[in-house]
Amino acid sequence: MYDFKIEAGTKAAFYDELAKALESLVAGEPDQVANMANAAALIMEQLGDLNWAGFYRNVEGTLVLGPFQGRAACIRIPFGKGVCGAAAESRETQRVEDVHAFPGHIACDAASRSELVVPIMKDGELFGVLDLDSPSPARFDAEDEAGCEKLVRALEAAL
Ligand code: SME
Repeated sequence: MYDFKIEAGTKAAFYDELAKALESLVAGEPDQVANMANAAALIMEQLGDLNWAGFYRNVEGTLVLGPFQGRAACIRIPFGKGVCGAAAESRETQRVEDVHAFPGHIACDAASRSELVVPIMKDGELFGVLDLDSPSPARFDAEDEAGCEKLVRALEAAL
C-alpha cells in the first residue's frame, strides 16, 4: 500500500510534490498499464473535486480508453472529436471551463462540468492523453494546467 501525504502551501508546491510522488510510484516499473493505473489512482485521490481521472491511448490513430478512476466511459474517441480528441490532434493541453460550451464535447458522465486534457508524448509521437473531469465548473486554472503538465512529464519517463 502506498500512503502519500502531500501537504503543500501553494498550488505550485503541491504539484511539485505530487510529481515527485508519481515519479517514485512508477520508478523502475516498465509496465505501462500498471503505471497508468497507479497514476490515475494517485491523481484521483490527491487532486480533489474530480469525478473522472484517467488515460486514453493512441492506438493506430484512435484514442482508446486506458486505466482510469471514475464511471465507465466511452471506449474509442477519434482524433479531433471532443476535448480529448482536440488535445490529441493539436498536441496541446485543453482546459475547458464549461464543457457544455465546448463544441463536440463527449458527455461520458453527465456530472462533468469542466475538463483538463494533457497530451502525453513518447519518442516524439503522441502516446495518449491524461483526461481529468470535474463536477464543478471552472475547476481547473492555469496553475492546475501547468501542474498537470508537470505530472505528465513525470509519467512519460515510465511509459
Ligand atoms: N469528455 C471527454 C470524453 C472522455 S470522458 O470525459 C471520460 C471528451 O469530450 O473528450
